[in-house]
Amino acid sequence: MRGRFITFEGGEGCGKSTQIRLLAAKLSERGIEAVETREPGGTLLNERIRHLIKDQREEAPVDKCELLLFLAARAQLVEKVVLPALERGAWVLSDRFCDSTFAYQGYGRGLDMASVKAANGFACGGLMPDLTFLLEVDAAEAEARRKAREQALGETADRIEQAGDGFHARIRRGFDELAAAEPARIRRIDAGGTREETAERIWKSIAHLL
Ligand code: TMP
Repeated sequence: MRGRFITFEGGEGCGKSTQIRLLAAKLSERGIEAVETREPGGTLLNERIRHLIKDQREEAPVDKCELLLFLAARAQLVEKVVLPALERGAWVLSDRFCDSTFAYQGYGRGLDMASVKAANGFACGGLMPDLTFLLEVDAAEAEARRKAREQALGETADRIEQAGDGFHARIRRGFDELAAAEPARIRRIDAGGTREETAERIWKSIAHLL
């Protein structure tokens, strides 16, 4: 049986990577292979593209170039990682996918949404997630988590994280509208509590797929 493709979306600091790890562990306990990946990333080439996109010391890409870099990485990830895994029956858990592009490059950067969607469809051959979790925490909590992570890992905010408040407000509105437009695929998850509470909500939401 074909595996399931589950994506995790949300603003910076909403806990996606932790939840992916917890869900992968639960699936493994049930004997289901779980492939964890992230966007942009997931292959050697894509990790290099990720660096190009995020690094502010290099020449900053114009908005269309940024879009196409994300989509170049997506095309590589879909063919090299996602489709082979789904075909062998594994579940793929991806930290971000197409909804990030719609929210960040469409709503955030203001690129024409019809063109963004068409280009995305071309890049990933029409593949869409079976289910998408939109992890929601309030803006102050997300900012606190992001700062704590930066301090713990010695990271500094990347080029996209440094974009102004207006950009991030447009992204939040974008995710809201995307979720409202596709309620069957995009599940909003309150991620403001403990990681275990959030994991429990996610687990309940995938019961029908097991
Ligand atoms: P992160 O994985 O550390 O959250 O970094 C990915 C960054 O790239 C994050 O700021 C969201 C952004 N992004 C886009 O702008 N468009 C996309 O299509 C994707 C996948 C990510």
